[in-house]
Amino acid sequence: MIPHLLIENARDLNTPYVMPQMCKDNIPLDWADLELIVNLTPFVNTDRFNIVNRTEPLHWQHTAWTTDNQAVPPTTIRKILKDKTVFIKDCSRLSKAINECIKDIEDIWKAPADAHVFFNTHKSDGSFGVHFDNNHNFIIQCEGESVIKVWNTELNNDDFKYRDVDCVEGKKRLREIEESKPAIDHIMKPGDLVYIPKHHYHQYIANQKRLSLSIPVADYEDYNIRQDRDWISF
Ligand SMILES: [Fe+2]
Repeated sequence: MIPHLLIENARDLNTPYVMPQMCKDNIPLDWADLELIVNLTPFVNTDRFNIVNRTEPLHWQHTAWTTDNQAVPPTTIRKILKDKTVFIKDCSRLSKAINECIKDIEDIWKAPADAHVFFNTHKSDGSFGVHFDNNHNFIIQCEGESVIKVWNTELNNDDFKYRDVDCVEGKKRLREIEESKPAIDHIMKPGDLVYIPKHHYHQYIANQKRLSLSIPVADYEDYNIRQDRDWISF
């Protein structure tokens, strides 16, 4: 899915890159796959199912025969999808191809990785806004188009201090970044791949229906706590 050379380059160089159409012949997911996942009760428990910028708590009635009462019911998911962006974590074993891709990354990087399925069905961008992460990230666009912007701005101590804190100084800094020229400003089409090294400000603007697969790679070398990548076939 992602060629070894690109994974090695990502590991060795602290540089973001875009590879248009790199995964066009093996796009990992489509809307039909998502339909299966979203309707599979054990797959959408609140440990996996995350709502970006959620402000209200979720409540629902427990139901008969359900083994996991933390699973978000479909009617609630339908309501959430009206105006929220969602991501489902712990998806690295969603298919044999995704599991193999994550295994390649872990073997080359000697660090644990995961796959997060991001999607929204509304047209107003409800994603994270400008931010940086403490892990590296590959993103493959699967359906729809989104805009990716990545900045090469060097981080200072205040950037870490203001991260995830709602304060005037932090907002000012994010505005400053947003108004500066990004190193990457690209429209992601299905099959496009982007790599964002850790501690790089970025913004994924999804203002139309989209589905993408995000592959976070931990920045520590702890190969021993990667997931079991054995794949059972019949
Ligand atoms: Fe991010």
